[in-house]
Amino acid sequence: MTLARRIADRIRAGGPITVAAFMEAAMQDPEDGYYRRGDPLGRSGDFVTAPEVSQMFGELIGLWCVEGWLAAGSPSPIRLVELGPGRGTLMADALRATARVPGFHAALRLHLVESSPGLRRRQAALLAAAGPQWHERLEDVPADPLWLVANEFLDALPVHQLVRTADGWAERAVTLAPDGGFAFADILPAPPDLVPDRDLPPGTVVERRPAAEALAAAIARRIAAAGGRALLVDYGYDAGAGDTLQAVGRHGRVPVLEAPGTVDLSAHVAFADIAAAVRAAGAAAWGPVPQGRFLRSLGIAERAERLAAARPDARATLAAALHRLIGAGAMGTLFKVLAITPEGAPPPAGFAAAAPGAAP
Ligand SMILES: C[S@@+](CC[C@H](N)C(=O)[O-])C[C@H]1O[C@@H](n2cnc3c(N)ncnc32)[C@H](O)[C@@H]1O
Repeated sequence: MTLARRIADRIRAGGPITVAAFMEAAMQDPEDGYYRRGDPLGRSGDFVTAPEVSQMFGELIGLWCVEGWLAAGSPSPIRLVELGPGRGTLMADALRATARVPGFHAALRLHLVESSPGLRRRQAALLAAAGPQWHERLEDVPADPLWLVANEFLDALPVHQLVRTADGWAERAVTLAPDGGFAFADILPAPPDLVPDRDLPPGTVVERRPAAEALAAAIARRIAAAGGRALLVDYGYDAGAGDTLQAVGRHGRVPVLEAPGTVDLSAHVAFADIAAAVRAAGAAAWGPVPQGRFLRSLGIAERAERLAAARPDARATLAAALHRLIGAGAMGTLFKVLAITPEGAPPPAGFAAAAPGAAP
């Protein structure tokens, strides 16, 4: 039976399910979830993540980790964790760029949090030399100083949508339409713990991501207790973007409810909520800063120039990749970067102008 049929049966039996529950099933159903079948990045050929655009992205993130590791006194051992490593490209580039840093590779133990069996196989092929261990959840990684990176991970976690109706806050749910397809329904009242603490005009949609906030808090608690740094990169906004849920298939955007399990569902990350969860858990949140500004301050333009000097035939490709990663209107402004450090740590590279704990 298809995943859509099984979700429909669930709604018939138990009533409408929240948008978050629909998203969880669509992405993580053990048999047919989007991230459980094969290589989803290969299937949806029309979305390309930053590490797949250019090696420069992973290289600079590797050097970002080293900068924080040196600033923290070169602790050993450290847990180098990537959440949702995709094809393993970011980590492969990061490890190559840091191979000559004395002591860094000897100190790190590599842990990959990945739910997709197909992507685990691809990561194994690329990263075998580093002896990675795989986990379903961050909780399974031993508690040592933590160096954690995640690119486009939070945006795949389930999102709840709250809708301000004339009668108060409702939670957006998924029900069955008369034609047997799926349709949205707003259910009153919304769970009080998800309702915004400020009133907003009727018609407003607010997205909340308790799973992402809990994950950010767990990262923050580890860093506060044992030291470390984390870097979270994602599609995102500072505050108040409304309904950002989208579905992307091989041919671009498709209706959100149309084909659960076969298209990528994601919603932009509310970084203000993530930063608040980090601070409440006792660590410092830096930024978010736009990805373009972050990469520029790490020296991406200089790196592109050196690569182009070594391979003049690739100059145009490199220039295009550079624009895609840092350009306004491209990933440079659509994506944001948030860093987590222990309280009192110096500004991490790329965040010198961002005050820790300042409202993002
Ligand atoms: C959009 S892809 C990004 C891949 C990679 N970071 C990149 O930038 O190319 C999301 C990644 O997170 C993984 N993932 C998504 N939800 C997950 C979950 N709940 N638990 C573990 N891994 C998950 C996916 O399998 C995939 O590797």
